Amino acid sequence: MVDRKNSCWTNASWRDKPVEQPIAYPDAEELERVLAQIAALPPLVTSWEIEDLTKALGDAAVGNKFLLHAGDCAEDFSDCQASFIVRKLKILLQMSLILFYGCRKPVIKVGRLAGQYAKPRSSTTETQAGQTLPTYRGANINRPGFSAEERRADPKLLLKGHEYAAMTLNFTRALVAGGFADLHHPEYWNLEFFQQSPQTRDYLKTTEKLSDAIQFMESLTGTRINELTRVDFYTSHEALHLAYEQATTRQVPRRRGWYNLGTHFPWIGDRTRLPAGAHVEYCRGIANPIGVKVGPTMTATELVELIEILNPRDIAGRLTLIHRLGTEHIGTHLPPLIEAARATQKRVLWCCDPMHGNTRLSGSGVKTRRFDDIVSELGQAFAIHERMGSILGGVHLELTGEDVTECLGGAQELDEADLARAYTTHVDPRLNYQQALEIALLISRDMCRATGRQPGASHPGHDRLDHPDGETEIGGRCDSGAEPPECTATKRSL
Ligand code: PEP
Ligand code: CO
Repeated sequence: MVDRKNSCWTNASWRDKPVEQPIAYPDAEELERVLAQIAALPPLVTSWEIEDLTKALGDAAVGNKFLLHAGDCAEDFSDCQASFIVRKLKILLQMSLILFYGCRKPVIKVGRLAGQYAKPRSSTTETQAGQTLPTYRGANINRPGFSAEERRADPKLLLKGHEYAAMTLNFTRALVAGGFADLHHPEYWNLEFFQQSPQTRDYLKTTEKLSDAIQFMESLTGTRINELTRVDFYTSHEALHLAYEQATTRQVPRRRGWYNLGTHFPWIGDRTRLPAGAHVEYCRGIANPIGVKVGPTMTATELVELIEILNPRDIAGRLTLIHRLGTEHIGTHLPPLIEAARATQKRVLWCCDPMHGNTRLSGSGVKTRRFDDIVSELGQAFAIHERMGSILGGVHLELTGEDVTECLGGAQELDEADLARAYTTHVDPRLNYQQALEIALLISRDMCRATGRQPGASHPGHDRLDHPDGETEIGGRCDSGAEPPECTATKRSL
């Protein structure tokens, strides 16, 4: 068991721990210069937005809200265009409205965007025609083309990524603040593609009912639905590149602790979640809510360690466990993990990522995912949590607003021959616009209410600790350990 409770934390203490998925820069000095530039730039998000998100995630953990956490596997700099951003936001808002209607709860919208640039990879090198080069690691690290120059880790890309994240976020904030009224009216949505699906009538019935409900609500309150359902939109990315994360980690006036102000919701990937590793060390000390991916190799003991390290004070909304076990494994792997988490008596938000455990190669060797596997894992996830008296409070999806052909199946019945038509991802296959909308309809129609929980239900086993405003009672706080002590001589905030 790793004892971090009494070890001091700084925004650089991760440097003394083993770093999984390291990035080798040929020019270390250039890297330090770029990081210093980033550290001096204004933050992308604020500490009070981060606090609001933590509270909202705490509500989702007890079934009062639902988390929709979705976006690209890896953003590309070429995605930083008005049309792409509009379409991504459009699918996220449409999905959130469908989920709001079906699950009867406010939906917390978190995009994998404005900084989802650095990727973990299963292999550090790639070989083509006898030449071996470093793997493509994401837009802020190197370039996808296959030459030594393109695969060189280039620090300047970190600065460019930071600027593109800022531009993406700026436009996203503007859109969320006002320009999207029609998106909240399903009668304006283009749903012709559902004509091809055997479930067409059901889906259309759902959206018609949604339209009616919206019109009723608008006429009753005299307020447009987009104002009624306005919820802040949050950003998220994998906290993989720790030197970059450190550069965006700051102290703010009149608040204790350190915030990563480069994103609201950083998460730790399945390949970097070692309790003794650098990524867990960095994340344990920041004030943001943290996500951790939980893959099929996670043991109950490791999960307990991670919960104790990352949420020692049992703060509601602090820790989201994003399980991504695969449709074949979830039935056996998830129940013991739920039991282990429950035994810690610490509150966690459970979220299902039905994408990353279901990646496979097509007959022609292309990375893909089957729509049916994704739906099957989601259905099992809701059912298992329900059966065990637990709450599945969110979903985590890889999707795009574009008409890509990367995942098989869905209402369009994409098959292997379609994959070549519009396969544009540099990393993992994403749901396209129509597949994403269909997933939201399926969750809304068949799954989320199957939990049988009503808003206001508390987490079983945690009633002792639950407090209406989401704060932990003093007793709970004392029992559960202290914050990681900060070293008195904290290193500069780079
Ligand atoms: C991802 O979310 O893109 C990813 C790499 O996930 P995981 O860490 O779960 O494999
Ligand atoms: Co991915």
